[in-house]
Amino acid sequence: MATLSVAAQQDAITVGADGKSWDIATRSSGYRVEVSTRGEVNAIYFGNRLNLERTNRAPVFEVPVRGGYVSAVPVLEVVFPDGVRDVELEYKTSEIVTMDGYPALKITQSDRHYPLEVSSWIRVLPEYDMIEKWIEVVNTGKKGSIRVENLLSGSVSLPKDAYELTHYSGVWGYEFVPQTTKLTQGTKTIQVRDFKSYGSSSFMVRPEGENDKYDGKVWFGSLSYSGNWRIDFDKSFAGNVQIAGGMNFWDQEIHLKPGQSFTSPRMLFGYTERGAEGVTASLGSYARDNLPAVHRDRIRPVLYNSWYATTFNVNEEHQLALAKVAKEIGVEMFVIDDGWFKGRVNDRAGLGDWTVDRNKFPEGLQPMIEKINAMGLDFGIWIEPEMVNPNSDLYRAHPDWVFHFPNRQRHEGRNQLILNLAREEVYQYLYTSIHALLKENNIKFIKWDMNKVLTDPGWTSAPADEQRAVRIKYMENLYRLVETLRKEFPEVWFENCSSGGGRIDLAMTSRFDFNWTSDNTDPTDRIFIQDSYLTLFPANTMISWVTQEDWHRQEPSLEYKFDVSMAGVLGVGYDITKWDDRQKKIAADKISQYKAIRETVQKGDVYRIVSPFEENRSILQYTDKNRRKAVVFVYQMAEYPSNTIKDTQRSPLAKLRGLSPDTRYQIEGTNEVFSGKYLMEVGVEFPVRGAYKSRIFTVNAVE
Ligand code: DGJ
Repeated sequence: MATLSVAAQQDAITVGADGKSWDIATRSSGYRVEVSTRGEVNAIYFGNRLNLERTNRAPVFEVPVRGGYVSAVPVLEVVFPDGVRDVELEYKTSEIVTMDGYPALKITQSDRHYPLEVSSWIRVLPEYDMIEKWIEVVNTGKKGSIRVENLLSGSVSLPKDAYELTHYSGVWGYEFVPQTTKLTQGTKTIQVRDFKSYGSSSFMVRPEGENDKYDGKVWFGSLSYSGNWRIDFDKSFAGNVQIAGGMNFWDQEIHLKPGQSFTSPRMLFGYTERGAEGVTASLGSYARDNLPAVHRDRIRPVLYNSWYATTFNVNEEHQLALAKVAKEIGVEMFVIDDGWFKGRVNDRAGLGDWTVDRNKFPEGLQPMIEKINAMGLDFGIWIEPEMVNPNSDLYRAHPDWVFHFPNRQRHEGRNQLILNLAREEVYQYLYTSIHALLKENNIKFIKWDMNKVLTDPGWTSAPADEQRAVRIKYMENLYRLVETLRKEFPEVWFENCSSGGGRIDLAMTSRFDFNWTSDNTDPTDRIFIQDSYLTLFPANTMISWVTQEDWHRQEPSLEYKFDVSMAGVLGVGYDITKWDDRQKKIAADKISQYKAIRETVQKGDVYRIVSPFEENRSILQYTDKNRRKAVVFVYQMAEYPSNTIKDTQRSPLAKLRGLSPDTRYQIEGTNEVFSGKYLMEVGVEFPVRGAYKSRIFTVNAVE
């Protein structure tokens, strides 16, 4: 992460003369916290930083609790050993520390009677226009456990106004569908309760009717957590809106023994005056700057993945034949997907036994990997560590290692069950298996899949007061497993997958280099999924393969499919051994075009010029940080007679973004040179005719 100058840090948190009020500033936002004369810590204001008079104050406790008047959504609900369920907090201390280069305010409160200490953190990220919030609770007593029934990461309160919420929901094959709804009095909750979300915890709240893409107030946020989460948007009768989010404590509790503490995951809250584009700039650059450091600034390779070509039917001869063509067309990383491990003839067997299937690969994997390496390709492999098929050696040996309750059905999904990764022996088994796989084979890429929702979260062999914390422990061990393996095998790339984009969030993105965006690789559907994905996450994490899928019977051309997949990290998934010379030539040309633009695509700033959710076309622009080069992707999904439907009545000009106004740019393939100001204020003519047609062109500074 970029670090700030000392001056910027000092501006970020200003402490009042009494040492008991704090003005927190990012580039656009101001956030104020004050301690009242009664010792209550109140959040006073969150919005435009110029509003110094705080004319639209919306005080709410900085840490709303269960106790006293029932007004705000509580972020903390506990039961003390004597059965008292109300909390009464009062201010104790505060300090400002620097964490990874950014200033962080820690305010500690404690219960007026019981041994409970609560520290609320606010880390200020000025150039992202965001603050990070999290809460730490400690049982400071000598005896008795405090039962935590709810601990969110934080809450913010918006000034009185009429608001609309946009959030992203989805289902398998249709990830991140934006949904916009008016916030009326009451609570709107978005949440996950089964470890899978094809949507996102990211959201935007805007004053009703304000929908300019590039301008206007937006409060936004996202939770950095991959387990169950929940975010409440609560509008009071008076008109203020409180947003509270964090882990979902549905069917969950933590028992804090004397001396024990628990810290919530981090929740980001932001405020921008730059409309949705400001949100994309903030969330996208935050996610990019927090990618695993080892590969953060590296160019992502062009991938081949064998899943669509083979499904489970893999063998050395065919893999080598695929690799040979992959190399010819310009692929750099060859990945074998599902099907390579013991007993994996279909999806009814094998998960859990992470050794090679000797029936399919009699010599093991390494001899094949050596042949693939000799072709000049790196090699990657698919695993699904968190799962087990009942038909596996692992399950036969340890049927108790899966989540289950006695006397209750074990609910299978895709014929598999979830291992209880909260158990140390499960962690050790997975660590040892994957460690051996990576040690014994020259593997440079792991695709880490997770295909079943969480059911039957029983762990009855654990002490009674730990059983309902099982989901938390599971997630801790998942993060620990990935982090440990990455430390030991730093050169290996890691891809996050969950039946497509079922588990994509900022916590995964800080541990994995890529996300498999969706199992839906139809180019038309992908244009929508990718538009949403790129609103929230950076392009260098978005893997997109060209495959034979055609969900809408449009028979799109191979060129069109490549143009869609080139908007992120390009991959190929066809059975390319069946390609004729014409197809290979198209692929080779497209891959070489991608290699020429990928630096800008993967590292540049993305602008969604025209969203497919608004029109029957889509335009994406990627611009280098130094604004010398931009790459523009243009897709048309339908063509109508001129001046019929609304889209066709609009100007055919598309205005570019993010260029330098005074620099002159040449449009690729033409002799035309325009100033940046012209391209941004007048625009370029939409350069595509016909349905399912596309074009990619660059705009290059000439002086
Ligand atoms: C689900 C993934 O999303 C697919 O890409 C593929 O890896 C299959 N699992 C393999 O079982």
